[in-house]
Amino acid sequence: MFERMREDIQSVFHRDPAARNTLEVLICYPGLHAVWLHRVAHWLWSADWKLLARVVSHISRWLTGIEIHPGAKIGRRFFIDHGMGIVIGETAKIGNDVTLYHGVTLGGTSWNKGKRHPTLEDGVIVGAGAKILGPFTVGAGAKVGSNAVVTRPVPAGATAVGIPGRIIAKPDDEQEARRKAMAEKIGFDAYGVSEDMPDPVARAIGQLLDHLQAVDGRLEGMCKALTALGSDYCAKDLPVLRAEDFAGVKPESAVAAVDQATPAAPRAND
Ligand SMILES: CC(C)(COP(=O)(O)OP(=O)(O)OC[C@H]1O[C@@H](n2cnc3c(N)ncnc32)[C@H](O)[C@@H]1OP(=O)(O)O)[C@@H](O)C(=O)NCCC(=O)NCCS
Repeated sequence: MFERMREDIQSVFHRDPAARNTLEVLICYPGLHAVWLHRVAHWLWSADWKLLARVVSHISRWLTGIEIHPGAKIGRRFFIDHGMGIVIGETAKIGNDVTLYHGVTLGGTSWNKGKRHPTLEDGVIVGAGAKILGPFTVGAGAKVGSNAVVTRPVPAGATAVGIPGRIIAKPDDEQEARRKAMAEKIGFDAYGVSEDMPDPVARAIGQLLDHLQAVDGRLEGMCKALTALGSDYCAKDLPVLRAEDFAGVKPESAVAAVDQATPAAPRAND
């Protein structure tokens, strides 16, 4: 449980540059409070304590302005930025590493029982005020623009904007979408990787991302098996990747230390 709470906090740092420290995140991020209260509500719902589950969900809405039905299924590292005005319906399904901004509705368009709310696959980002209505899938790594109203499936990696939602950017194929999702997960600028780099470099990084994805999937399976056997091996955190590791930028303190230790080289016309 604490491991999942830790990764929830980490995902705030990864996706909100305004987050300064853990205490601030713990106290001032209603999206985090809503996700944690939803876990309690969902557990009660699954254990058939339906009314209590609705009460917890209602208290959460009262505290955060975020309404998540206790029946909704939500994956790991779900991040709601700002919160307020979010509605997530009973049969909505949300994958891992999904981000929602304020004012988003994952709603239904019929009063029939059964699946009537959308499914968001891994790495989907939904902009402020967007409405996604109906029992269809928004594919992995897709983006929905702010204030869009989407009533049809969105392919993996595509971007949908406007009313009604239309696709403005489509990745070449699903492999590209998976690469983008993995690149974002480990802190790369996903667009830089696939579109702006010279071909051989982009291909090599693409292959590495595919490999990482396969290793990631296998590790997750092994961790589940180990945890089921009672091991706490997977409770340990992986080393954190920082943006400057990729950009080759040293922390300011390190640059200052190197500058002090290295006498200035004489210039050609000195
Ligand atoms: C949809 C989105 C992800 C697209 O980003 P992008 O891939 O960088 O796309 P661009 O900004 O290059 O825009 C591409 C085109 O879509 C249009 N567009 C972008 N976002 C749009 C939106 N929300 N609604 C309608 N059109 C939009 C742009 O005007 C542009 O049109 P053009 O090609 O005719 O000039 C982004 O605009 C967005 O809405 N992000 C959500 C951000 C948000 O909600 N933040 C909340 C912070 S509190």
